[in-house]
Amino acid sequence: MQRVLITAGAAGIGREFARAFAAEGAKVFICDIDEKSLGELAKEIPGLVAKRYDMSARAEIERMVPGAIASLGGLDVLINNAGIAGLTLPVDQYPPDDWDKVIAVNLTAMFDVTRLAIPHLKQSKAGCIINMSSIAGRYGFANRSPYAATKWGVIGFTKTLAIELGSFGIRANAIAPGAVDGERIQRVFRGRAQISGRSTEEVRKEAFSQQSIDGFIDPQDIAQLAVFLASDAAKSISGQVIPIDNDRQRA
Ligand SMILES: NC(=O)c1ccc[n+]([C@@H]2O[C@H](COP(=O)([O-])OP(=O)(O)OC[C@H]3O[C@@H](n4cnc5c(N)ncnc54)[C@H](O)[C@@H]3O)[C@@H](O)[C@H]2O)c1
Repeated sequence: MQRVLITAGAAGIGREFARAFAAEGAKVFICDIDEKSLGELAKEIPGLVAKRYDMSARAEIERMVPGAIASLGGLDVLINNAGIAGLTLPVDQYPPDDWDKVIAVNLTAMFDVTRLAIPHLKQSKAGCIINMSSIAGRYGFANRSPYAATKWGVIGFTKTLAIELGSFGIRANAIAPGAVDGERIQRVFRGRAQISGRSTEEVRKEAFSQQSIDGFIDPQDIAQLAVFLASDAAKSISGQVIPIDNDRQRA
């Protein structure tokens, strides 16, 4: 039975990861800052361990990882899913404190969770790390500088982990999704509309015009990709960035 730790797993894509791995028979631990969503998912998924921890605080991460490992009885799969969108503003107007917040959740938390998880993944028969990047980790992304910088950073971090950990039987890959429908992307579209003086509908159309396949990404498909990447069938896949983005040509 795979033992799986998912950060920010109570809602959005993280919740689909939790559902998908639990459906495969895995033992799953999630953390999140949203108590209500944690409680709801714990009710939905029997055996799920769901605890409140803030991924922007190193001290909380340093408590979360050992707690998660203890409740799972070890670790096979780490999914570094936590990531915040940040503000939509050009670099010269971006408040430095908000830059720091995005770096803390999207990149520093990934480093801290991973460094603490590695000794336990080394005990696994088939350790696997999945890091959430984004379409913004493959292209420049106007007015979302810390987001793009962190999502490119995730790829550098992932490729480095793959090299450092391959000889311990641990694989590391990044998933780079395009836009998933939901409150988060609507917020991003509203931000882009506001800054460019267009309607949100115009922004949405423009975003989709950059894709060869129309529409949003289904978060359940992202979860199935993660299940595959964590499976034995993906035993030769490491150090890769897997886009799931309707063939989008720019961020
Ligand atoms: N949604 C998209 O369109 C999209 C596209 C590409 C990549 N991604 C990436 O996928 C990942 C998940 O995105 P999502 O859209 O599902 O996220 P989301 O905004 O829906 O949030 C998911 C969860 O993160 C939790 N969270 C936020 N800050 C936290 C913190 N400091 N500590 C712990 N939990 C925290 C929230 O409470 C929420 O339950 C992120 O890394 C994101 O950058 C998302």
